[in-house]
Amino acid sequence: GTTLGASAAEKGRYFGTAVAAGRLSDSNYTTILNREFNSVTPENEMKIDATEPQQGRFSYGAAEQIVNHARSRGMSVRGHTLAWHSQQPSWMQGMSGSALRSAMLNHVTQVATHFRGQVVAWDVVNEAFADGSSGARRDSNLQRTGNDWIEAAFRAADAADPNAKLCYNDYNTDNWTHAKTQAVYNMVRDFKSRGVPIDCVGFQSHFNNDSPYVSNYRTTLSSFAALGVDVQITELDIQGAPANTYRSVVEDCLAVARCNGITVWGIRDSDSWRSSQTPLLFNSSGQKKAAYDAVLAALNNG
Ligand code: G3I
Repeated sequence: GTTLGASAAEKGRYFGTAVAAGRLSDSNYTTILNREFNSVTPENEMKIDATEPQQGRFSYGAAEQIVNHARSRGMSVRGHTLAWHSQQPSWMQGMSGSALRSAMLNHVTQVATHFRGQVVAWDVVNEAFADGSSGARRDSNLQRTGNDWIEAAFRAADAADPNAKLCYNDYNTDNWTHAKTQAVYNMVRDFKSRGVPIDCVGFQSHFNNDSPYVSNYRTTLSSFAALGVDVQITELDIQGAPANTYRSVVEDCLAVARCNGITVWGIRDSDSWRSSQTPLLFNSSGQKKAAYDAVLAALNNG
């Protein structure tokens, strides 16, 4: 293939990017988007603060703009994210206990129902585990509603959109030896053994000097896949965009049969949440970087 999406498709996979609705009027941006990618993830537009800014009042305009742009061009959509401790609207930030549990489940149900049939995979729950060596859940208002909040969210999403793939998504879960990675692994194993409806695990893979790519990444992907879930690289960016590291990430995904797609977290460096790290595949003018060539070659050689 001559583009990321076409080359990934030849390997039975997708190649996606995070998209911001506010950039869809930038033709430099959409030219690259439409040419290179066959999957999109709304960068902020499906988050709780965007879709339910006031309790019970849902707002889907920006998300629908991205969904329509993508689907009318044959791109698939990853939904991000139904339940998260961050980017909660202020009404939710102040809630706790059973009222919060109900509000969270209602949110999951409403949003997944609204986009039923249009979102191939949902990040049902995002970033629920703590950093560091504890292996514990992250403390949050959602966690304080009870340890079963994650499985409750998955069951609600499954009831609302039975055909969507339901993913758990997190960061710093790339290194197989880290406690956080093992803790997520144990949760997924438990869910699979008890029939909790989970289909996939997303590895954000925001690599930088503090949390670098490590060669046991392939072991992480294959170990999770062996539990009977798909694995997806969901928010890839790498500080400095070293071509060799991007190549290794792609090769690792291609080596794992159930690694069915890669998403980079933005198109041009100027679109990145970490733009000063120039971590993406296109420079701020929209030109291909060496990392782009390495990714394309890896997709075609693998
Ligand atoms: O839209 C408002 C704008 O109206 C306001 O004037 C401006 C002033 O700060 O803020 C704008 O919202 C910002 C939003 O991005 C859109 O640009 C928020 O402040 C800012 O916090 C938000 O950052 C996003 C971040 O998630 C928030 O947690 C980043 O764009 C987004 O790339 C980032 O993505 C996360 C994933 O969802 C989860 N994994 C980590 C990843 C990187 O942090």
